[in-house]
Amino acid sequence: MAKQSVSINNIDIELPNCNLFIGGEFTPALSGATFPVEYPGSEETIAHAAYAQPEDVDRAVSAARQAFESGIWSRASAHKRGYLLSRLADLVEKHLEPLARLETLDNGKPYSSALGDIRSVAFCLRYYGQIASTIEGESLPVNDDHLCVTLREPYGVCGLIIPWNYPLLMAAWKLGPALAAGNTVILKPAEQTPLSVLKLAELSREAGLPPGVFNIVNGYGEVTGAAIASHPDIDKVAFTGSTATGKLIMQAAAQSNLKRVSLELGGKSPVILFPDAKLDTALEDVFGGIYDNQGQICCAGSRLFAHKKIKEPFVEQLTARAQSRVVGDPFEEGIEQGPLVSSEQLERVHGYVESAKQQGARLLTGGERLNRKGYFYPPTVLDQVSNSMTIAREEVFGPVLSVIEFDDHALDSIIAAANDTDYGLAAAVYTQDMDRALYIGKRLKAGVVWLNCSQKFDLVAPFGGYKQSGFGRDLGRHALHEYTQIKTLWMRAKP
Ligand code: NAI
Ligand code: MG
Repeated sequence: MAKQSVSINNIDIELPNCNLFIGGEFTPALSGATFPVEYPGSEETIAHAAYAQPEDVDRAVSAARQAFESGIWSRASAHKRGYLLSRLADLVEKHLEPLARLETLDNGKPYSSALGDIRSVAFCLRYYGQIASTIEGESLPVNDDHLCVTLREPYGVCGLIIPWNYPLLMAAWKLGPALAAGNTVILKPAEQTPLSVLKLAELSREAGLPPGVFNIVNGYGEVTGAAIASHPDIDKVAFTGSTATGKLIMQAAAQSNLKRVSLELGGKSPVILFPDAKLDTALEDVFGGIYDNQGQICCAGSRLFAHKKIKEPFVEQLTARAQSRVVGDPFEEGIEQGPLVSSEQLERVHGYVESAKQQGARLLTGGERLNRKGYFYPPTVLDQVSNSMTIAREEVFGPVLSVIEFDDHALDSIIAAANDTDYGLAAAVYTQDMDRALYIGKRLKAGVVWLNCSQKFDLVAPFGGYKQSGFGRDLGRHALHEYTQIKTLWMRAKP
């Protein structure tokens, strides 16, 4: 598969090498299998990527194992690993535009958003490069005849399975800490979005990452992903995606070699809006929290609990804004929303909207795909939703807001309703009464709680779920701990 380029709206986009990346080389699948890659803005097939079968996953694991055991990475000084990660970050910045073009081509997000994502990728890799040398153990107060210390050691070979909503950024969130800690990795991008990480593979060679430290196997989850989850020689699997797939991965991990697992899964995040909130800020946040990234965000604020007193005017304004959102060709300037990632996702999202209507919700705007090529689904608002409807229980992962009315006769009943979900990824509360905000914030069962703000992220702030939103944390120093295990080392101190 030689280098090719595609032309979208007269923009030439150079495609990366679409083979597998194993041991520092691009290589086709042994079987020669490929799968098609589609641009969701036009429904056209733009490339074919090598499709890794279990035997290819074996090859990647061998390369990663060999690199790990050689010590070239795991025993290099943390400064050296950090330096190479920073170099990779610099190269990502240098190739910001080509990477962002690939991201939009693959995922359909507006090009301006893709640029923002890729900038965050560089920051993330640099951050973990910088904190690589802060991975420290302790010395412990044991009896005087001994010295006892703990070491934080890498697991070994890590399988990273990531989704399609922020392809390169989700890769960076896992690659950064996994590599900083000295592991070697096999990354499986989502089958919808294989391209940008392949470009990252090219850059990783240029940065000087030793061969076998970073490997990529593209392919479908049921084959390539499953081969990773059940592989007997992978020490840890880190996953971001749906709860259903997270359960399969955990099962496969248990049944194979009890590899360590961390899971960042779906959400059904509540936003609780009181009448005394700063409503302008809240409107901005609620809107962005459900419509940014075409609504394909795990921590999207998909259930808006709006107080009776302000619900009508608030929802009216929000609906008007939804109607004026500029949806269209993601490469065009000024576009705010692109297509959903795939026809499958479009059907899933639309199916949820239909089910909500059947169960008694009122459609205020949206609710039909746009009449054009590409998987465009407009911002959709559903009113009169109750928390027991399917739309309020299952992750939609699209630009669909469900509005649930409440009044605050009993504060605890709104907290109970917000917590009445299998998920627990994030939650937001808007009220100027800080006593109330904190009272609720401490009682929400979610891994991230935003008070009078929402969708806030920072590299230093851990991110992850309660309940069926998974376990383990991305970002911050906590993520380093997800990729290290503790060795307790005893030494005699008596002649
Ligand atoms: P998915 O969870 O099936 O896919 C995510 C990743 O897992 C992909 O790389 C996929 O190839 C891989 N995978 C799938 N089956 C696997 C298996 N048996 N073993 C190992 N890896 C496997 O998500 P999908 O099917 O793309 O989307 C379905 C729904 O999942 C979405 O509508 C959304 O609700 C949710 N989702 C949530 C995400 C999040 O960030 N929390 C991201 C993507 C999807
Ligand atoms: Mg799936």
